[in-house]
Amino acid sequence: MPTLGPMGAAASHSQPHATADPAPSWQRPLAQALAGQAASARRRLGGLDPQLLDLASNDYLGLSRYPAVVAAAQAAATREGVGSGASRLVCGSRPVHAELEQSLAEWLGRERVLLFPSGFQANLAAVGALADRHSLVLADRLIHHSLLTGVRASGARLQRFRHNNLAQLESLLGAARRTQPDQRLLVLAESLYSMEGTSADVPALAAICARHGAALLLDEAHALGVLGPGGRGLGHGEPGIALLCGTFGKAFGSGGAFLAGDGLVMEWLLQFSGPFRYTTALAPPLAAGALAALQHMQAQELAGQPTGPALLEQARRWRQALATAGWPQPPGEGPILPLLVGDDQRALDLQQRLERAGLLAVAIRPPTVPPGGARLRLVLRADLPPGTLERLLHALGSP
Ligand SMILES: Cc1ncc(COP(=O)(O)O)c(C=O)c1O
Repeated sequence: MPTLGPMGAAASHSQPHATADPAPSWQRPLAQALAGQAASARRRLGGLDPQLLDLASNDYLGLSRYPAVVAAAQAAATREGVGSGASRLVCGSRPVHAELEQSLAEWLGRERVLLFPSGFQANLAAVGALADRHSLVLADRLIHHSLLTGVRASGARLQRFRHNNLAQLESLLGAARRTQPDQRLLVLAESLYSMEGTSADVPALAAICARHGAALLLDEAHALGVLGPGGRGLGHGEPGIALLCGTFGKAFGSGGAFLAGDGLVMEWLLQFSGPFRYTTALAPPLAAGALAALQHMQAQELAGQPTGPALLEQARRWRQALATAGWPQPPGEGPILPLLVGDDQRALDLQQRLERAGLLAVAIRPPTVPPGGARLRLVLRADLPPGTLERLLHALGSP
């Protein structure tokens, strides 16, 4: 089996380097890009060490192993098959898809919902619906890669605004409107930023977009299930959102994603969106797992114990405890608590210190974050055992 050589290029044991021809020209940029890359990406492909307590994943409510979610996925696999076998418009649709779309639309108070196999695809589709090569897209500096890929695919022009800086956004929108009054404008933001832990001021954002006639695409991937009323996200009840993206791979404990919006934009997606039409439909067990997770969230709310508030209260305690112990207080309010340490090696050392104590939290370094912005990304889950905070503080030691 080929192995990765020191430059990351594939090398074969039967053909030693010394006699090999120079790499073909198509390989050179790949080898150059790989030179000096850390080995951590490759190591992580080995998977989560089951001995470590997970303080790294986005399974915020612990639903990926929740018995009702697992049972629903198993039953769907038995009934419908593991895979859907075709795209939604050929013969991949199942009753569980329609039921999940309908339930989400009602839960969120949006006209219509369409499912996607992943959030990456949903974001590609969303940008494609709201922008084209004549558009200007204004995106928060920390927006997810899938949205940027969508902008590139749409051919639209991209301008970035500083993270959560609505004054700068407003001034860019004003300037754009003055220069080209009829131009189609699109604003991209997230309600909980995954590496930062911070949130957008969604009502203010929507008001600015409305003032300038810009469409707003809000990615609620990390917020749904946790933030907003009953976990409905920060965009809940906000009419000025053209499209809302949610994913099932995080608080829903499953996989896949959806877009929600009004009838017009959703009909456009159904009729014209390549990322919706030309892909195998969301696997039935994932759709059934997501539906069970949604039903769990709704039942919790009915029982007067909505998902989210307890986790947010716990997040407040963790933030305070970290600050009291002398660590920089993690920004934001949600379950993502980045410990901003700046230096790459320091972040790695902290990760290793935690690992020795049986805890998994991942050091996030450039280029995922800006240079000098290395951090240990701590993630809270609703199902962590008692005493986890004390264990974490002990493992971190003194700053
Ligand atoms: C903000 C955000 N949007 C979209 C995605 C993509 O979702 P998926 O994992 O379902 O492709 C992610 C990450 O996974 C994300 O963090």
